[in-house]
Amino acid sequence: MNNPGNVIFQHFKVGRPEHEKLNGHRSCVLWFTGFSGSGKSTLAGQVQERLMAKRIHTYLLDGDNIRHGLNSNLDFSPEGRTENIRRIGEVAKLFSDAGIVTLTAFISPFRKDRDNVRNLLPKNDFIEVYVNCPIEVCEQRDVKGLYKKARTGEIAEFTGISSPFEPPPNPEIEVRTNEQSVEQCVNIIVDFVLTRIL
Ligand code: ADX
Repeated sequence: MNNPGNVIFQHFKVGRPEHEKLNGHRSCVLWFTGFSGSGKSTLAGQVQERLMAKRIHTYLLDGDNIRHGLNSNLDFSPEGRTENIRRIGEVAKLFSDAGIVTLTAFISPFRKDRDNVRNLLPKNDFIEVYVNCPIEVCEQRDVKGLYKKARTGEIAEFTGISSPFEPPPNPEIEVRTNEQSVEQCVNIIVDFVLTRIL
């Protein structure tokens, strides 16, 4: 850990307002949270496509992908997950400083970790999207075959089976992927985001 007193923050003339002006829209962080298999990546990917079609600059940070690179040294213990979310919160902040609408798709099971990211960003910049789907439905979908492995004990500390998930009490957006179609969910999210960034 460095001594913060010896590290002096530098300010530059090109900052978020300049990036946003160049892009022609504001930025924000769209934070998807929910069980594995709830539909976070699917929705985030389709929201991104819809925004891109409107010439909005976006970037998608996805849990499975980031855990292959930047966060490949982290496990699924509570500490590993907290560090995962802390790093992604910082990365999302950098991307939004660059004027980019940043979508993140991580289980992010702990309320405190998500709230820490919220508090890292200017007010109204953190849009929490609760991708709500009953664990039984996620388990039945079992797109990656991981729930089966969690049940047999091949995977330990699996969210919803042997590790907790704390739902957001006041998300900006909540979609129910077992009741609403992908298109309905995407429409709700895109409409909300556009009111914040245009
Ligand atoms: S988080 O809890 O730290 O936010 P993250 O979103 O990065 O999780 O990664 C979740 C993905 O890792 C899941 O979609 C699943 O494919 C995979 N995975 C592997 N092991 C586990 C586990 N023990 N619990 C949850 N997901 C796991």
